[in-house]
Amino acid sequence: MTEGPGFWITLEGGDGSGKTTQADLLESWLTDAGHTVLRTREPGGSEVGQLIREIVLHHRGDIAPRAEALLYAADRAHHVATVVRPALQRGDVVLQDRYLDSSVAYQGAGRVLDATEVRELSLWAAEGALPDLTVLLDLDPAAARTRLDSADKPFDRLEAEKAEFHGRVRDGYLALAAAEPDRFLVVDAADAPDVIAAGIRTRVAALLAP
Ligand code: TYD
Repeated sequence: MTEGPGFWITLEGGDGSGKTTQADLLESWLTDAGHTVLRTREPGGSEVGQLIREIVLHHRGDIAPRAEALLYAADRAHHVATVVRPALQRGDVVLQDRYLDSSVAYQGAGRVLDATEVRELSLWAAEGALPDLTVLLDLDPAAARTRLDSADKPFDRLEAEKAEFHGRVRDGYLALAAAEPDRFLVVDAADAPDVIAAGIRTRVAALLAP
């Protein structure tokens, strides 16, 4: 990664895989260790991104798959240029919920666009920026659905997709992790949160060690 002296971590996984819990735990640990942490997310990590997030997650009715892919890529382009890259140049640890792997898994494998094209689109949008570490919280979609149901919140457009869609998303993620084992850490999201957190800390500590 050549974005500056900072360190960039992205969290990936299906809806209901526990990314937020793990981001909270990792953020406290990093802050206690003296790092300046910038917590952010896609879609919606910038003001422009908030507007795009409204469309992609809450628009009623269909959005053509290529239009959806372009909306996520537009959010990403603005977010990397105005939020992520400046933070990495300041030397922050950027802790980010979702990045381009979400597009490859959801718009590629999920919506059945060409995965390579979706990835190239995002790389163009982000001028090639890739994280130092991507943590994939891998979970069986049926278990994730049980968690989402018990959270008792209305589903957004993507969460409301059928089980087969979420199965393809999971397989898409696992293929990405297999293709880039150095960038990815795959954890079993069915484990207890503190067990998962410890595994993530071990990898982060090794990468941040001088
Ligand atoms: P969000 O509420 O952030 O979900 P979660 O809390 O599960 O991360 O909503 C993001 C949704 O957008 C999620 O269903 C995945 C989807 N998404 C894509 O389809 N493509 C993308 O490139 C990104 C970043 C997200």
